[in-house]
Amino acid sequence: MEILDLRHFSSVDLRPLLEDETQVWSQLLSWDYTGSADMILRYVDAKILPGYAAVDRGRVFGYSFFVYEGSKGVIGDLFVADGSRLSDPHEVESRLLTHVIETLQQSPGIHRVEAQLLVHEAGVVSRPFVAQGFQRHVRLFMVLPLGSTSKPPLPLPQDIEIRRWTEQDYQPAAATITAAYRGHVDSEINDQYRTLSGSLRFLNNIVRFPGCGTFDPESSFVAVHKRARTLVGLILCSRVRNDVGHVTQVCVLPEYRSYRLGEALMETTAGNLRQRKFSLLSLTVTEANTRAVDLYIRLGFETKRIFDAFVWEG
Ligand SMILES: CC(C)(COP(=O)(O)OP(=O)(O)OC[C@H]1O[C@@H](n2cnc3c(N)ncnc32)[C@H](O)[C@@H]1OP(=O)(O)O)[C@@H](O)C(=O)NCCC(=O)NCCS
Repeated sequence: MEILDLRHFSSVDLRPLLEDETQVWSQLLSWDYTGSADMILRYVDAKILPGYAAVDRGRVFGYSFFVYEGSKGVIGDLFVADGSRLSDPHEVESRLLTHVIETLQQSPGIHRVEAQLLVHEAGVVSRPFVAQGFQRHVRLFMVLPLGSTSKPPLPLPQDIEIRRWTEQDYQPAAATITAAYRGHVDSEINDQYRTLSGSLRFLNNIVRFPGCGTFDPESSFVAVHKRARTLVGLILCSRVRNDVGHVTQVCVLPEYRSYRLGEALMETTAGNLRQRKFSLLSLTVTEANTRAVDLYIRLGFETKRIFDAFVWEG
């Protein structure tokens, strides 16, 4: 088995592996990975995707890639096909990750590396990260089956209304996100939340690019202070399968918390998806964010997977 630069390969070499990966995402996360897989294959053919491939007798059976975002490196994916002849696929995962981590840590100008590996059970791929000085945060992948019965809408505070997301909400939404995550554990995991320009980049990735499903404006909402006409909270939802929604962001400004606005935003999105015959709503949340976890449990979400987020600052 050899670990080689991903840019030696083309989509023809990678396609069978990505087909396997698409099946795993579907089984474990009810997520249609075909759009992401196609995008990865296009980048592979353009020879612009940095990463490594695990190769056995000319066959690619594992890969990991990363992207550069300014002075940050983000590990985008890691996948090793099950049922390969190798006795220990985790060993292959470790070797791929070690190559990726060392490359990023040695890249001039890279001061931060982030990774969130959803399909890998917590702890399973942590060894190379911990060995290289990464911090580990446990995250939950939670799902809510959407039955047919909608709950009556929650009464909102008098001054607040919930309305659908529009393009004009971009800037105020970025400001709301930045304020909502000040001092929050999630801004340790994703440093984009720490600044207005970072939050705008985050929104851009969610709304304009298909990396995390396809943004679904119909089930995305903002909570607005009626008189001041300012945004006090928001929920963004993407479509990750034909009938599955995924909450990519939900937050409420600190001074407007505990009025059940978070609950109302979640219920509004769930209600919209129910009407449109979606069967499932999913989200990810940091385990230490107990306030949010408790809210989701109360709404009927169940933990389907536990995974890790890793962060390194050099
Ligand atoms: C998570 C978050 C969106 C919740 O927003 P919120 O408007 O405060 O949420 P709610 O008021 O609906 O629910 C949370 C609180 O109300 C209580 N509550 C709400 N409905 C309740 C009910 N029916 N019964 C009992 N308690 C209830 C909760 O127990 C919790 O209690 P507390 O305020 O006394 O601590 C908000 O805290 C936030 O923006 N956090 C930062 C960003 C974040 O973590 N987002 C989630 C990332 S996955």
